[in-house]
Amino acid sequence: MKNIFVLSTLCCILLFAFTEPNSNFSSHKGNTGNDSLELKRGEKLFTSNCSLCHSINNSKLIGPTLFEIEKKHERVWLINYIKNDEKFSKIDKTAHKKREQSSFVDHQNFEEFLSDNEISLILKYIKSKSE
Ligand code: HEC
Repeated sequence: MKNIFVLSTLCCILLFAFTEPNSNFSSHKGNTGNDSLELKRGEKLFTSNCSLCHSINNSKLIGPTLFEIEKKHERVWLINYIKNDEKFSKIDKTAHKKREQSSFVDHQNFEEFLSDNEISLILKYIKSKSE
């Protein structure tokens, strides 16, 4: 089952990578082209990897809302947690506690499919939606 999820996630990422429109650089006033491109990429990564379980509008889905998540945790903490919460909880008390309190099995482990940079883009997108 996990393999199917991994495969379909990868397919989604590939699909999005090939359908990315390149023509919107200057259409967002007040933003540099790079910023809006990064937010778009962050949005796509969020939609294909996280939105099944997380909202950004304060409602709870399978997981807690990620609204204003960067007010709760530092970015480095978040990246480590998202990559591999089980490994991280061995060296971080907060992560350890969070896992103990959770009735959920294990958090999806993104270490193998998302780079630090891609997770940062997701967090940047979440932040832009939390303002
Ligand atoms: C299959 C469901 C599922 C998916 C997919 C998922 N999460 Fe989660 N997430 C959870 C659950 C359940 C929790 C709460 C329990 C825990 O931390 O294990 C959680 C917790 C978190 C937390 C800690 C929240 C807090 O309030 O401290 C962060 C941050 C997070 N997830 C980010 C992400 C990101 C980013 C993605 C996508 C890359 C993602 N999650 C994908 C289910 C999911």
